Amino acid sequence: MLDLKALSKHFGGVRAVDGVDLQVEPGQVFGLIGPNGSGKSTIVNLICGLFAPTAGAVEFRGSDITALAPHARVSRGISRTFQNIRLFGQLSVWQNLWIAQSSGEPGGKVAFLPRWLGGSRAVRDEIDRTLAFFDLAHKAEELAGNLSFGEQRRLEFARAMAAEPALLLLDEPAAGMNAEEIEQLDNRIRRLREEGATILLIEHHMELVMAVTDRIAVLNFGKKIAEGTPAEVQAHPLVREAYLGTAAAA
Ligand SMILES: Nc1ncnc2c1ncn2[C@@H]1O[C@H](COP(=O)(O)OP(=O)(O)O)[C@@H](O)[C@H]1O
Ligand SMILES: [Mg+2]
Repeated sequence: MLDLKALSKHFGGVRAVDGVDLQVEPGQVFGLIGPNGSGKSTIVNLICGLFAPTAGAVEFRGSDITALAPHARVSRGISRTFQNIRLFGQLSVWQNLWIAQSSGEPGGKVAFLPRWLGGSRAVRDEIDRTLAFFDLAHKAEELAGNLSFGEQRRLEFARAMAAEPALLLLDEPAAGMNAEEIEQLDNRIRRLREEGATILLIEHHMELVMAVTDRIAVLNFGKKIAEGTPAEVQAHPLVREAYLGTAAAA
């Protein structure tokens, strides 16, 4: 599904991403972890096309997309959330999903259309299902800017799903969440996996990553230092060192 080939991104002297090879198979929930500043978000930006790599290539569903613009990658099925919430605060929850919705419906969308005018019956039903899945149905008409922090995070996730992506990139979806919200996030990721979704999950919250992923790659200073099942990665001495300092190697 996704194949990163010797991918590098340098910012001046900083090797944010340094020769990373990585493959995500269809139906996998793949975890990408590493200390702060290890290059995780930069990899997401390279996959989405917000950054052009210094070297290497991004392949997606068998074709090289390294030179494609971000919107062209969205049409090919790559969708993402941001580490910091980026919603249209002056649009309703429903409208935020409507403009993210990709299926069918040619032509430009008018973002401010009322709910009952936006889109075909099928599209409206799909949006309502997505809202229900993310427990936001009762907030459909609310302005996104008026939602609580937890609700905004759910809407950000819902919006990424509304595009019906072949590959979903989640950049620290649990950041700032309380224990109950993380539990709900855990459940949602599991249900999406059961439905066959392919997800690249970047996350600091180790319990969540270990619980919901099939495979994990570990970054440190822009390099992949380990990869394997959650159990293999947890036992890896380099990983323990990167996370806990050399004392943990003892
Ligand atoms: N746009 C940028 N310009 C310059 N340096 C950047 C930029 N984005 C990221 N970096 C640097 O690249 C490194 C990796 O950052 P990042 O990918 O955000 O790490 P992570 O998401 O793992 O915390 C850091 O040293 C960061 O300061
Ligand atoms: Mg980051």
